Amino acid sequence: MAQKTRVLTGITTTGTPHLGNYVGAIRPAIEASRQANVESFFFMADYHALIKCDDAARIARSRLEIAASWLACGLDPEKVNFYRQSDIPEIPELTWLLTCVTAKGLMNRAHAYKASVDANTAAGEDPDAGITMGLYSYPILMAADILIFNAHHVPVGRDQVQHIEMARDVAARFNYLFGKGREFFVLPEAVTEDAAATLPGLDGRKMSKSYDNTVPLFEGGAKALKAAIAKIVTDSKLPGEPKDPESSSLLTIYKAFASAQETAEFRGALSAGLGWGEAKQRLTDRLERDIAPMRERYDALMAKPHEIEELLQIGARKARAIAMPFLGSLRDAVGLRSSASAHAPETTKAKAKAERPALQPLVFREDGAFAFKVHDAAKQVLASGGGYADPKSAMEAAQAAMAGLADL
Ligand code: TRP
Repeated sequence: MAQKTRVLTGITTTGTPHLGNYVGAIRPAIEASRQANVESFFFMADYHALIKCDDAARIARSRLEIAASWLACGLDPEKVNFYRQSDIPEIPELTWLLTCVTAKGLMNRAHAYKASVDANTAAGEDPDAGITMGLYSYPILMAADILIFNAHHVPVGRDQVQHIEMARDVAARFNYLFGKGREFFVLPEAVTEDAAATLPGLDGRKMSKSYDNTVPLFEGGAKALKAAIAKIVTDSKLPGEPKDPESSSLLTIYKAFASAQETAEFRGALSAGLGWGEAKQRLTDRLERDIAPMRERYDALMAKPHEIEELLQIGARKARAIAMPFLGSLRDAVGLRSSASAHAPETTKAKAKAERPALQPLVFREDGAFAFKVHDAAKQVLASGGGYADPKSAMEAAQAAMAGLADL
């Protein structure tokens, strides 16, 4: 039987899900997890949460709320792998193995880190003010999340695509250095949500915690949902005046839940002059039809945190059954072996090098400057860099990187 496609995604546990998360991430992920040829991994990225948040109570609450939300939305923990990152010790261990082969220059180029440096510089502060090693190494922890399960596809928001590319770079480099012809890691691919799955928030911009314009999914119950919908910005047309349905967030949100026919009816009613107050009531009613039964499950789960804990412990055991033997083979590959086997005939450094595939440099234009990549015969990228003023400096950097790789 062909291997199933492994799909993996992490949810940072610093908040509680809103309607935009449900439509953009939770609902499509759960639907995809029901396909027969897919093996899904969903986890609470609680180690990542520590990078952004030092409020312990908030972290604890968020882990619970996110777990309960995914379960309430229909995730089947028997069919998928559902766990907390911090319950899988193989993840931080792999993080270290990867850290030791990750170029510092690669991390320097991470958007999230660069944005913090830029903000500091603009504010006249030390460039690294307030930047922790956690933030700096964030992409390596994320690479370990993905690589420990050899995920093929990683559904993420657009802001995360660069991290997946970094995971590929790191994976390829590890394969090259230690694989001796064996590809330890699958090179993962980012899958971005389609634009149609992005909901507008209260102010019409993309619904996002960082804009403070969200509609809660379960938090606060039906009352909070209704209150949030009431706050969605509309124009000031009166009841009876025709509305422009296509420019209304109400229709966009309605459409994300309703059938084509229901949507056509709602659109028609707006064009015919349905008042905004009435339109909001119809939207609330339509949302409630989907959300009320899930909210009931959510409340039931939140009332029994030990049941959630039990499910997560089972999830952790299942995931570790995959991670543990795999990490064992990686430890062995880098030389962390039991003393009993440490005296097995040594491959000499020269022999180890000879077993590695040939490297090739490539120089190209990028963002108005010159960049390079070093790849092996299988076109896996093992090193890369950018921002060089001319092709010659890019080539020199490529050659230096090749020399560095050959020396390892
Ligand atoms: N960094 C991701 C985010 O902020 C969350 C995350 C952590 C993740 N590890 C992951 C996503 C691994 C996909 C795969 O959205």
